[in-house]
Amino acid sequence: MRMFVEKSKLEMSKKAAQIIIEEVKRNPSITLGLATGSTPIETYQRLIEDHQQNQTTYKNVKSFNLDEYVGISRQDQNSYYSFMRKHLFNFIDIEEGNTNIPNGMTTDKEEECNRYENFIKQNGGIDLQILGIGQNGHIGFNEPHTSFESRTHIVDLTESTRIANSRYFQSLEDVPKQAITMGIQTIMEAKQILLLISGEKKAQALHELLHGEIREEVPATILRNHPNLTIIADEDAMVVLGKSGVGLG
Ligand code: PGA
Repeated sequence: MRMFVEKSKLEMSKKAAQIIIEEVKRNPSITLGLATGSTPIETYQRLIEDHQQNQTTYKNVKSFNLDEYVGISRQDQNSYYSFMRKHLFNFIDIEEGNTNIPNGMTTDKEEECNRYENFIKQNGGIDLQILGIGQNGHIGFNEPHTSFESRTHIVDLTESTRIANSRYFQSLEDVPKQAITMGIQTIMEAKQILLLISGEKKAQALHELLHGEIREEVPATILRNHPNLTIIADEDAMVVLGKSGVGLG
């Protein structure tokens, strides 16, 4: 594991973008695992700026998003399909056909989970997974007590996650109750994981990740077992650990 602590969310985003850009240049046909949420938005902005200024190309890059809500259409502004277009895909030269997001409108959810999981495998797996973390330690939509062996599956969203995400919707009632998410095992099979963590609200989750017992109650704790994990935190996320509390144990 390597860990960087940056002054601010902006600096965290710059560092993350720098690592992603280096990897894309090193392997122009890299498969990226992508995340939504507020954490990676500025990282994606840096990728766009770099693409415009330095012509870093995504022509041969493939991507798999972590998750999608069940029951909202791609066109819905709250779908993760729309999110990715709005915050990244519309502004870089990635091919639409190379981007993958679970289909939340499928009539056969089980089948869609299997298709997505198998498609990741057929493509040779994920080279670099960009990841955020929930206040409760969730990764993707893998809520506390999800099996560490889980693969792409349907989840019932917890009340706390629905409340956290309701800021994007008209009301809490409009927040979907289910999502399709890569499983914890799916995430752990990525060759490299880049975890971004910003803000005081995430400080306890970061503390658990670094020092808590590895347990399904806090999904992110499993990341300590990943052979190639990079954490980039901002100082606000360090308030529980303290600036010198990076020591791993
Ligand atoms: P956030 O969500 O980036 O919007 O905080 C991250 C997550 O819940 O995984």
